[in-house]
Amino acid sequence: MLSVKNVTMKYGNHTVLDNLSIDFENGVYGLLAPNGAGKTTFMKLLATLHFASSGKVMWNGESIAALDEKYRDIIGYLPQQFGYYKNYTAEDYLLYLSALKGIPRATAKQRVSELLSLVALSDVKSKKMKKFSGGMVQRVGIASALLNNPKVLLLDEPTAGLDPKERVRFRNILAGLSKDRVVILSTHIVSDVESIANRIVMLQNGKIYCNETVGEVCGRLDGKVFEAEMPAAETSAFSRNHFVVSERFEGNSAFVRFIADEGDGCAPKSAGLEDVFLYLYRDSEGENADTL
Ligand SMILES: Nc1ncnc2c1ncn2[C@@H]1O[C@H](COP(=O)(O)OP(=O)(O)OP(=O)(O)O)[C@@H](O)[C@H]1O
Ligand SMILES: [Mg+2]
Repeated sequence: MLSVKNVTMKYGNHTVLDNLSIDFENGVYGLLAPNGAGKTTFMKLLATLHFASSGKVMWNGESIAALDEKYRDIIGYLPQQFGYYKNYTAEDYLLYLSALKGIPRATAKQRVSELLSLVALSDVKSKKMKKFSGGMVQRVGIASALLNNPKVLLLDEPTAGLDPKERVRFRNILAGLSKDRVVILSTHIVSDVESIANRIVMLQNGKIYCNETVGEVCGRLDGKVFEAEMPAAETSAFSRNHFVVSERFEGNSAFVRFIADEGDGCAPKSAGLEDVFLYLYRDSEGENADTL
């Protein structure tokens, strides 16, 4: 188990993570927060690229700082922006990274071949990566984070640039991987985590706002999401007095989805993760927002 205990992380006077605590067990965790909320900072902390201003991270009861190399051996980390050599083929790039990690050549060949198959790139393993789509490059990145068969897999915004088909493939890959490891992926795209993650972790004001299933998170807005039908011309006035999540127009009519304590006779709707996200971060980029 990966346990984060009372971690605070500051850049100068700016507190990004504020006395944050959370335990991660095997499964896929979706770290969801707006831009600038501290996702990358948190991932870097778990990847030992940053050290906390205070607090600690423990792996199976031992501090990751004390475990040092032993901990680094069991993690895989895909940075938000990762560098690769455009003129390398996917296979050469992964073999090169394996060599840097000290994996013996014969073992590496076997491992790279398995991983290319896992991320469905075996067919193009000899193509130069400059010919790859964004999604293909991202899949090479995922394979690179898996080279050492990590127990903790950290993926910072891994779904950026994936098309819907690739997202489905990605979800299936992660579901298979998460049976016996901790997978944490960060994103600010709600629809990405909704279907991929077992648990949703949201950051708010540098703390963990929730660590729950999608159903539980959405339950926080139970009975508070409504849809009003009105003439299209009335939507601006309505949105001045209500927290509007979305508007849909059909001819001269508008269907306005909004969040409120009372629906005033409007049709109740079941809450989605996007409703929670928009409502939670309504006043800011993740800072100073009210709690539900
Ligand atoms: N090296 C740094 N020095 C100073 N401030 C930093 C540094 N890195 C990040 N920050 C600040 O810390 C806050 C959190 O940044 P971080 O990159 O962790 O957010 P994020 O959630 O990953 O954002 P995004 O969705 O844009 O990737 C931001 O206000 C950012 O400006
Ligand atoms: Mg980031």
